[in-house]
Amino acid sequence: MSLREDVIAGLSLPQKTLPPKYFYDGAGSRLFERICRLPEYYLTRAELSLTRAHLASIARFAGKGCELVEYGSGESLKTRLLIRALRPSAYLPVDISESALRAAQRRLAREFPWLHIVTVNGDFSRPIELPASRSRRVVYFPGSTIGNLTPEEAHAFLSMTRGQATRMLVGVDLRKDANVLHAAYNDSRGVTAAFNLNLLARINRELGADFDLDRFAHYAFYNAPLGRIEMHLVSLARQSVRIGRHRFAFDAGESIHTENSYKYSIEGFRALAMRAGFAPNKVWLDRRGLFALHALN
Ligand code: TRP
Repeated sequence: MSLREDVIAGLSLPQKTLPPKYFYDGAGSRLFERICRLPEYYLTRAELSLTRAHLASIARFAGKGCELVEYGSGESLKTRLLIRALRPSAYLPVDISESALRAAQRRLAREFPWLHIVTVNGDFSRPIELPASRSRRVVYFPGSTIGNLTPEEAHAFLSMTRGQATRMLVGVDLRKDANVLHAAYNDSRGVTAAFNLNLLARINRELGADFDLDRFAHYAFYNAPLGRIEMHLVSLARQSVRIGRHRFAFDAGESIHTENSYKYSIEGFRALAMRAGFAPNKVWLDRRGLFALHALN
């Protein structure tokens, strides 16, 4: 499916929806890198600090000299710690953003001249073919990106990676106080809002649509029964939007659901991994108990 087909299909649903993978064009990837550095967005810092603190045992689990596959690699921030510790025989970053991949490759090639890098520009929300492996493969899936999949999609993803790797490392945001979660997805500088709204700007740019960005607002809240943050774009007025020959009507207050970010308890995530055929091994937490890195085999 193309951007156009996905957008038309999603906006035709009773609850209008847009697939989050389209957040990551050039502008979106750069906005996301700013989110990762926001004071309220604890996820990246917590995962970095737990990775630093437990690097030796993480490396022992993965095994030196393995091939390291990373899904949703973006700027490969946390990965640099792993690359240094593991000295992988190859690094295969998989990302939907061509520009983010290229920038990461340039930077890593400079920092690790010995590293064999094989970029894979692809969409891992569907089955993806990787180049043939030459040695033991470890799949790294940090950033709680798995939380951006529904539990059903996460199950399908884990079943796919089960056939690609002997071991897996998955970064998962833990359930916690709703106020802490709320602040993380409603930052005071409005970067998350800009990131969310960029999706409409991208649809305007690439599909010639006429979304009025001043008449949509970022809205994120924690849905406790479902254990997930939901991000929406709320229409501030009754309006209609044109995309090619299609028109979409919005009531005032009607939303487009743009993303979920599921939060898992340690046991909840382990149960999901087991249903996909993995055996939960170790789990490492940051000192504040905000974020978990799960080792699966
Ligand atoms: N996976 C991360 C999370 O759920 C990153 C992320 C994806 C994100 N989309 C986002 C963060 C939108 C903030 C806003 O938090």
